[in-house]
Amino acid sequence: MKLGVNIDHVATIREARGTSYPSIIEAATRAEKAGADSITLHLREDRRHMQDIDLYELKPLLKTKMNLELAPTEEMIQIALDVLPEDVCLVPERREERTTEGGLDLINNFNSIKKVCNQLTDGGIRVSLFIAPDQAQIEKAILMKVPVIEIHTGHYADCIGLDEQNRELKKIINAITHANQSGIIVNAGHGLHYKNVQQIASISNIDELNIGHAIVSRAIFEGWEVAVKEMKGIIMECAHK
Ligand code: PXP
Repeated sequence: MKLGVNIDHVATIREARGTSYPSIIEAATRAEKAGADSITLHLREDRRHMQDIDLYELKPLLKTKMNLELAPTEEMIQIALDVLPEDVCLVPERREERTTEGGLDLINNFNSIKKVCNQLTDGGIRVSLFIAPDQAQIEKAILMKVPVIEIHTGHYADCIGLDEQNRELKKIINAITHANQSGIIVNAGHGLHYKNVQQIASISNIDELNIGHAIVSRAIFEGWEVAVKEMKGIIMECAHK
């Protein structure tokens, strides 16, 4: 099972101050050195974290591959066709949401999403659809003949109590089995962290997990003392001159 590291929230910190740091290029290249199998980023319509230029700067520097998350809009399709990431994962997007809160509705948007998939596929990009672990959505993905889907694990991550979590896990396993039987590659992600990823990582036939927020959050504290000590060291050195 591969790990796609989502670096959006490195850009969230950068955008909070409008600085050039922390560098998303450094985040991506260091993630690759640490074992990431792909780098995931989401260009949102409101550009709250990644900016267009980030995609262009990052693409030629990646040693693994770029998995670009996008809403299925004409503007985003044109950007994808220009940047040419290896993968595009189509996601639903609402401006007021904090993060991608659900999967695509393939039932009500079948034709429009199919059209977007065709445009991207014709441009040489592998398309993935971010969908809930719901049999009706899987059926539509099969009908659409997409090569990859990503199962939304957000509800699993939000479950309170083991019973609820096991029910959601069963839905995820059934959805993966169904998609696999039709030859679709299955990824999964959203809301996974160091204490809930184990059950998902134990499911066979998931190709890749995409994880962001938990890794960025953990990285803050893994480097916290180093960062404080270094700043304190500089100040002390200057103060004694
Ligand atoms: N997969 C998809 C399609 C997403 O939209 C996101 C969030 O941007 C993730 C995975 C990663 O989610 P998290 O940041 O909660 O790990």
